[in-house]
Amino acid sequence: MPLRQTARLDRILWPLHRWVWGDFDRRVRKLIAFSKVEGDGGRDILRAAELTPDPLLRRLYLEHAIDELRHSDLFRHRGAALLQLRATRSTSLFNTNPLPGGHGLDDLTIKGEPDYRLLAFLHVAEKAAAGRFEIYREVVDDDPATKAIFEEILRDEVFHMNYTYTQLARIRPKGYRRQVWQARASRLWKRYLRLAAVSASAIGAVVLTAVYFVVLAPFAWLAKRAERREPVGWAPIAAERHDRPTSQY
Ligand SMILES: [Fe+2]
Ligand SMILES: [Fe+2]
Repeated sequence: MPLRQTARLDRILWPLHRWVWGDFDRRVRKLIAFSKVEGDGGRDILRAAELTPDPLLRRLYLEHAIDELRHSDLFRHRGAALLQLRATRSTSLFNTNPLPGGHGLDDLTIKGEPDYRLLAFLHVAEKAAAGRFEIYREVVDDDPATKAIFEEILRDEVFHMNYTYTQLARIRPKGYRRQVWQARASRLWKRYLRLAAVSASAIGAVVLTAVYFVVLAPFAWLAKRAERREPVGWAPIAAERHDRPTSQY
């Protein structure tokens, strides 16, 4: 499967990736975030190695987990080295990253998952990561040390992408393609849910701001106008409102 084909969307988003990686603070934050995702993914795959009944898969999962934990160290050390270069905080307006993370292993679920489903998920995630890291390698060409890390990690991700597919075809000779499609659909659905949550939050903020300025300001003005009509100080109560003191109301 050609890698370039997998990263078509990321190719379209190339200028956005360039913008994200162009800012020093965003670059550091991305590296630290990647370190966390790779580390968590590595630990999950280590757990999968403990649970699988298949000896060959256990060995491959173990190798895979060691790779991911090493990636985590590489990203963390590079992020820390960049931070030491400049400790001041950027005042850039958009410090958040609008693009999804590199690996997608944060969606990984091990408990109760059969090997074929896990392999399909890993294959799709590794393929996406390989495509994305290929782009990142290009957009950080002003930073040779970070570029070298992406080059090194990319080789591992291609191996992960290939072994998961081969093993999936071995343990699920009939229907391994369907498993990959299901994993792809599930990944897309999770992406959609994330996007929907972000959009809902943005729409909520816009609506509440509009309510604040459109409804609250006229209400405050009317309240102030009514206050001006009220007499100042004590005011006598109308005679018809003099109720008996024994009355409850
Ligand atoms: Fe990785
Ligand atoms: Fe990987």
